[in-house]
Amino acid sequence: MSRKHIVAGNWKMNKTLPETQALLASLKDKKNTGDAHVIVAPTAINLQASVTMLQDSPIQVAAQNMHQAESGAYTGEISAGMIQSIGIDTVILGHSERRAYFHESDELLAQKVNTALAHGMTVIFCFGEELEDRKNGKHFEVVESQLKNAIFHLTAAQWSNVVLAYEPVWAIGTGETASPEQAQEMHAFIRKTVSASYDEATADQVSILYGGSVKPGNAKEIFSKPDVDGGLIGGAALNADDFFAIVNAF
Ligand code: G3H
Repeated sequence: MSRKHIVAGNWKMNKTLPETQALLASLKDKKNTGDAHVIVAPTAINLQASVTMLQDSPIQVAAQNMHQAESGAYTGEISAGMIQSIGIDTVILGHSERRAYFHESDELLAQKVNTALAHGMTVIFCFGEELEDRKNGKHFEVVESQLKNAIFHLTAAQWSNVVLAYEPVWAIGTGETASPEQAQEMHAFIRKTVSASYDEATADQVSILYGGSVKPGNAKEIFSKPDVDGGLIGGAALNADDFFAIVNAF
């Protein structure tokens, strides 16, 4: 089965407006030589400008986060409706930095996922074990529980708007990446888990991205694995040459 290849750049809390515009201008000049669908996720305040700049580009814009409520007294937050009103229909949810620094639980993430999907948005759902979990041989268990608690309540039909992003926390921004074999092993496990809870067709169609210190030098080998359908890129997404070297690893 041929699944959609996706390379998404999560810019995190980086880039001012002029810096965002400069990076987008460079990205627009790059040639996509493969078949990866390209997404960038700038910080919330620069989303509108990014959509405007990428109007005539196949590069899609995603939000890094959103609140679960429709609207209301949630100072500092942004809603699904606000994101959609500026022409964005994809949101990253569950990133380990949101879980660690903003205490986002599986239960909260389930609500956010529900809200995003109710709006017809696509969710890039992130999850992954911490170093201690892997050292203790609990990585499969942790990943399975993150999935079961936050997204396995969805119907099979809703999975057409879900992209999974496996990001082992120990590999994020550390320069230490999961080996291609470790990534494949976990991605195959994730697909098997989706298949067991749903069915093979659902598991076969969902794109599973790997995230954690993906760089131009290791992308090709990681992306060559059969269950790795793309990457969620942090640091290397902040440089147009590096990001497109990764995009073109497909
Ligand atoms: O969202 C992206 C990931 O956290 C990966 O970040 O490529 O800087 O390790 P990184």
